Amino acid sequence: MKEVKIISTGSYVPENIIDNNFLSNIVETSDEWITSRTGIKQRRISKDENTSDIAYKAALKAIEKANIDVLDIENIIVATITPDSFSPSVSCIVQEKLGAKNASCFDVNAACTGLIYGISIAWALIKSGLYKNSLVIGAEVLSKIIDWKDRNTCVLFGDGASAVFLSASEQKGIISTFIMSDGQKGNAIKIPALPVENIITGFVEKPQCKISMDGREVYRFATDVMAKSIEKVLENSGLNIEDISLIIPHQANIRIIEYAADKLKVSKDKFYINIDKYGNTSAASIGIALDEAFDEGRIKSGDNIILVGFGGGLTWGATLIKV
Ligand code: ACO
Repeated sequence: MKEVKIISTGSYVPENIIDNNFLSNIVETSDEWITSRTGIKQRRISKDENTSDIAYKAALKAIEKANIDVLDIENIIVATITPDSFSPSVSCIVQEKLGAKNASCFDVNAACTGLIYGISIAWALIKSGLYKNSLVIGAEVLSKIIDWKDRNTCVLFGDGASAVFLSASEQKGIISTFIMSDGQKGNAIKIPALPVENIITGFVEKPQCKISMDGREVYRFATDVMAKSIEKVLENSGLNIEDISLIIPHQANIRIIEYAADKLKVSKDKFYINIDKYGNTSAASIGIALDEAFDEGRIKSGDNIILVGFGGGLTWGATLIKV
C-alpha cells in the first residue's frame, strides 16, 4: 500500500483585527481577564467573507505551494461547523471557485477536531487506492454564530481557514492517525439548527443559531484528552515523546496546552502556540498553526510532528507525521 504525505499547507485569516479592549466595550470583560484565563489577545473577524470564500483563499495557497494543476485534484474535504448553506456543501462551492472539476467533494462536521478528521479520512481514501490525492480544508466564520452578548463565549473565538494537500507517496508521511467521539457529552458545546416545523406540526419559534458552551465541562474534557491523545498516537507509532520535534495542538486555551505539557513532562516550547493572535478558530486552528510553523522554519524535512485536537461532538484525535 502507498504511503500518504503532506505535500503543502496554506492558510488565510480575514483582515479585521478585534482586540480584547474592543470586546470590553461590548460585554463586561477585560484584557486582563481574557489574557490570563485564555492566552488570547486578539482575533480576526470577517467583514464580508463567508466560509467558502476564506476556505478558497487558504486552498489556493496550498495548491500554489504544491505546484499542482487544479484538474488533478481528486478529492476535496472541508471541515466546518459554519457552512455557507445546508446545501451545496462548502467543499462543492470551493470546487466551483477553484475549477477543480475532477474532484469528489464533501464536508465533515467534527468542530475543532475537524482537520484531524479530514486528514484521517483522506489518509484512508488514499491508502485504499480510491484517490491519489486529497485537499483537506478547515474553515470557519464563527463570528456569525457567536452570541455577542455572552461573555462566556464571545471572547474565545475567531474566523480563519487552513488547507493541507495530501498525496500518495513512496516515502513515509502519516505514520499514525486516530479519531474518537463521545456523543453522550454533546450538550457541552451546542449550536442549534432548525427544529421540525411544518404544516403537520404547526410552526414554532425557531431557536437562535448561536453557540453555547459549558466552559468548565469542556475544559475538564480537553485537559483529559489532549495528553492522552498524544500518548495514544505515540504508542500506535512505536515512538517516544523525545522523537517528536513539534506538537501542533488545537488552539482553544493556553492553559489547556500548558496542562498537557506538564502531564507529558515536556517543555511548553515543544508546542506551537499562536492562540494570542487568532483565538479559537475551530476546524481551522491546527492547519493555521501548521502552516505558520512551516513558514517560520519550525518544521524541517525528516521531523516527526504531532497534530492533536478536541472539540464539539464531543470529538478528539491526533495524527503523527514524518515530514
Ligand atoms: N470576562 C470576565 N469574566 C468572565 C468572562 C469574561 N469574558 N467569562 C466568564 N467570566 C466569569 C464567569 O462568569 C465566572 O464568574 P462567577 O465566578 O461569578 O460565576 C468567572 O469568570 C469564572 O468562570 P470560569 O468558567 O470558572 O472561568 P475559567 O477560568 O474556567 O475560564 C473558559 C472559562 C476560558 C471558557 C474555560 O473554561 C475554557 O477554556 N474552557 C474550554 C473551552 C474550549 O476549549 N472550547 C473548545 C471547544 S469549542 C468548539 O469545538 C467549537
